[in-house]
Amino acid sequence: MGNFTETIDRRSTRSVKWDRLKEVYGVEDTTDILPMWVADMDFAAPEPVIRAMQERLDHPVFGYSYVCDGCKKAVAAWQLDRYGWKVEPEWMQFAHGVVPAIASVVETFTEKGDNILITTPVYPPFFAIPSLQERQVVHNRLSESDGVYSIDFDSFEQAIDEHDIKLFILCNPHNPGGIAWSGKDLKRLAEICARKDVLVFSDEIHADLMLEGKKHIPMAVASEGTGVKLVTSIAPTKTFNLAGVQAAIVITEDPELRSRLEHHAMAHGHSNLNAFAAAALTAAYEEGGPWLEELIGTIEDNMKLVIDQLPDAVPGVKVRMPDATYLLWIDYRDTGLSEEEMMDRLLNKGKLALEPGTKYSEAGRGFLRMNVATPKSNVQEGINRFIKAMGN
Ligand SMILES: Cc1ncc(COP(=O)(O)O)c(C=O)c1O
Repeated sequence: MGNFTETIDRRSTRSVKWDRLKEVYGVEDTTDILPMWVADMDFAAPEPVIRAMQERLDHPVFGYSYVCDGCKKAVAAWQLDRYGWKVEPEWMQFAHGVVPAIASVVETFTEKGDNILITTPVYPPFFAIPSLQERQVVHNRLSESDGVYSIDFDSFEQAIDEHDIKLFILCNPHNPGGIAWSGKDLKRLAEICARKDVLVFSDEIHADLMLEGKKHIPMAVASEGTGVKLVTSIAPTKTFNLAGVQAAIVITEDPELRSRLEHHAMAHGHSNLNAFAAAALTAAYEEGGPWLEELIGTIEDNMKLVIDQLPDAVPGVKVRMPDATYLLWIDYRDTGLSEEEMMDRLLNKGKLALEPGTKYSEAGRGFLRMNVATPKSNVQEGINRFIKAMGN
């Protein structure tokens, strides 16, 4: 169904990943660089999604559009069938992305100067957005052992008490660590937050990208009965490679939270999705399942390729199979190289663009993030370039 072997030339398509290397990495000549950084894929979107957008394009009038009941039904069916989460249509609001949803939640439920908790390392907008909105961001470091992260519940709770935390932003599953939090862990987080009256925002954009049979558990399911105040955001964009189409769903069962979010959306003129996003979202959730299954197999194979070769070829480098995402979190602490030295080698000698770990906060130092959602030939090329970069 999908095509995960063909190399599609993405240069000169206004692609952030391929066409913004100079701006992001400061490299003059980018023609030769292999980009394995920002989290989108080099694969064509599922055929039914392209067809749905094409059908919309074939109608030449692009007037105001709305998210129809069919769209909401498709979202609800996806969550119920895959994760056993029963979402009512009226619990849903739509946003142009999960990042805009984070911004709305921060602005709606906290005040300037309030403290917001995140567990690090984590996706950069989790700290950048609250900071830009003049909130204080409290970093609770995840415990780490051999590249596997876990929550230090004692220090998590202590951070809430010490800083009078108003909002906790959770990444479930976790980017960049690729961790699928267990139901037990999620419930414990929810119980703490409920007890201390901390609102939880659960970013579940990577939920559908579970590897090797691992299960995603929505925070809404794990936290049932805890009384925690919760807003969740999901999206078809990471799952089906539609980041440029921009669509996300913001879900909360709590009528009061919903009405405050609705008010915020109205006050800021946010409404609806564009005509193509609504068409793509519906087709993705209705017909994208088989494509996703093939994608997962491809990602697993690509990851194994890196795991089998890189640590053997490069002393001091460790890689493990994550539970979720198409992102490898590569531990190079034992090479003794600084981040600056590592990035210099990769970019200038290897001609390979990976993400430096500190982009995910100081807790990410000594790690690199590698995106393997690209044809196998590119993954092999990336491995070769990494090895070359580390040679004398
Ligand atoms: C955890 C997480 N949240 C949100 C996003 C981006 O969301 P959006 O493109 O819908 O704004 C990403 C993209 O990599 C991500 O990793």
